[in-house]
Amino acid sequence: MKTIIEPFKIKSVEPIRFTTKDERIKLIKEAGYNPFMLNADDVLIDLLTDSGTSAMSSKQWAGIMDGDESYAGSKSFYRFENAVKKITGMSYIIPTHQGRAAEKILFSTLGGEGKYFPNNTHFDTTRANIEFTGAEAVDLLNETGKHPEIRADFKGDMDVEALDKFINKVGKENIPLCMITVTNNSGGGQPVSMKNIREVKDVCKKYDIPLFLDACRFAENAYFIKKREPGYADKPLLEIAQEMFSYADGATMSAKKDALVNIGGFLALNDEKLAQQCRNLLIVTEGFTTYGGLAGRDLEAIAQGLEEVLDEHYLQYRIRSIEYLGEKLISAGVPLIEPPGGHAIYIDAKRFLPNIPPEHFPGQSIVCALYVEGGIRSVEIGSVMFGKYDKNGKLIPPTMELVRLAIPRRVYTQSHIDYVLEIILEVYKNRNNLKGFKIEYEAPMLRHFTARFSELN
Ligand code: F0G
Repeated sequence: MKTIIEPFKIKSVEPIRFTTKDERIKLIKEAGYNPFMLNADDVLIDLLTDSGTSAMSSKQWAGIMDGDESYAGSKSFYRFENAVKKITGMSYIIPTHQGRAAEKILFSTLGGEGKYFPNNTHFDTTRANIEFTGAEAVDLLNETGKHPEIRADFKGDMDVEALDKFINKVGKENIPLCMITVTNNSGGGQPVSMKNIREVKDVCKKYDIPLFLDACRFAENAYFIKKREPGYADKPLLEIAQEMFSYADGATMSAKKDALVNIGGFLALNDEKLAQQCRNLLIVTEGFTTYGGLAGRDLEAIAQGLEEVLDEHYLQYRIRSIEYLGEKLISAGVPLIEPPGGHAIYIDAKRFLPNIPPEHFPGQSIVCALYVEGGIRSVEIGSVMFGKYDKNGKLIPPTMELVRLAIPRRVYTQSHIDYVLEIILEVYKNRNNLKGFKIEYEAPMLRHFTARFSELN
C-alpha cells in the first residue's frame, strides 16, 4: 500500500506563530490553566475543535465571490437547497446559522414538559436545547460504546432493545422524535452502522415515531460504513449517505463539520406541517426562509462543500490521518478510546494518570501539559465539562475522563500530525510529574469555558 497523501495542493497559507516553552508556561498560567482562555495566536496546533475550522477549497472561495445576497429567493439558496436535497432526499430544507439553531427551532416546536427525546448520545447543545424546553434528553448507547478499551466497528450504535423498552415505559405519545447522532461525537466520534439505523427505524415505525439524524459528520459515518459493514465496499459514498438519510424523517446539521465551511447549518424535514411551524419560528429568530441567518455566500460555500466531502480520496485521507495518529499512540501504550473515531483522538485520562483522582481533574492536567510541551490546544471532556456536585458539594464525576484532540478538516498535514504524536509521547513519558488542579472560579452553567484553575502541589 502506498502512502496516503493529502488530496490537495496548498494555494494559500496562514503562518503559525511559534512560542517557547517558557512563554507557554507563563501564558497558560495567565489563562487560569484553561485553554479556552488562551489567545489563538499563542497556539501552535489548534485541536480544540473540528467545528468551523475547515480549510475551504478554491471552488468554495469562488462561491463566496459568486454568492447572491438577495434577501429573498437568492440563487445561492436554491443551489444550497439542491445540494442538501440530493444527499438527504428530504422535501423541506431550512437554513440556519449553525447546528444548535436548527436544534433550537426543532425542539422549541416539539419539546416541552413531559416529553422525551432518545438518542444514541446527545451532543451537549442538543441536550441543552431539549432540556431548555422542559423535556428530557435520554442517551441509549449500546454497551460496547461505553468502554474505551473495547474495539468494535460500530461503537456509536443505539441500543435497540433499550429503545423499545423505553418507548413502552414512557409511552409513544410522549416521544415526539427519536434521534441518532452520526458519528457519535460525545462517545468518541464512533460510527453508527446502517444495520443499526435500519433497526432503530423499524422500532420507530412500529410506534409511529419519526426518526431524525444529527448529521454533522454524516460523510465520515458513511465512509466507516463503506469500510466496515458487509455489502457496502463497492457502493459510492453518495449512495451510502443517501441510504442513511432514507431511513430518517428529518435531520439537523451543523455545516461547520462535514459541509467543510466556517459557519452554517440546516434543518431538513419531510413533514410539511412541521416545516411550516419551524419556518415561522425561523423568521422570528434567524431570518427569512431562504437565508436563515446566513449570507448568500455562506450558502454557496455549503453547497460546494457538500459536493466535496463525499469524495473518496478526501475521506480516505481524513479518516486515515486520525487512525494513523491513533495507531502510533496505541502502540506506544497511550490509553485511548479504541478504535479511533472519525474526527478526533480521545485520550483516556483515567488510565493515563491513574494517580490523579477525578476531583483533581486528570484531563485538565493533560490538556495543560500538551500546551506547555508543544503549543497544542485540546479540550477536557470529563469532570471539568460534565462534573456535577451533590448536596454536600462533593464532585459527581461523569463515567469517563477524556481529552479530545479534534482534527480540523484539510488544515494540517502529515508532519503536523507527526509533531502532535511526538508531543503526546513526550507528555506520556513524563506523566508521573503531572499535577492535579483545583477550581478557583466557575460559572454556574457550562463552567468549562470560563473556569480558572490553580495547580496542586
Ligand atoms: N451536534 C453535534 C454532534 C456536534 O458535534 C455539534 C457541535 C452540534 C450538534 C452543534 O453544532 O456547533 O454548529 O451549533 N460540535 C462542536 C464540537 C462544537 O466541538 O464538537 P453547532
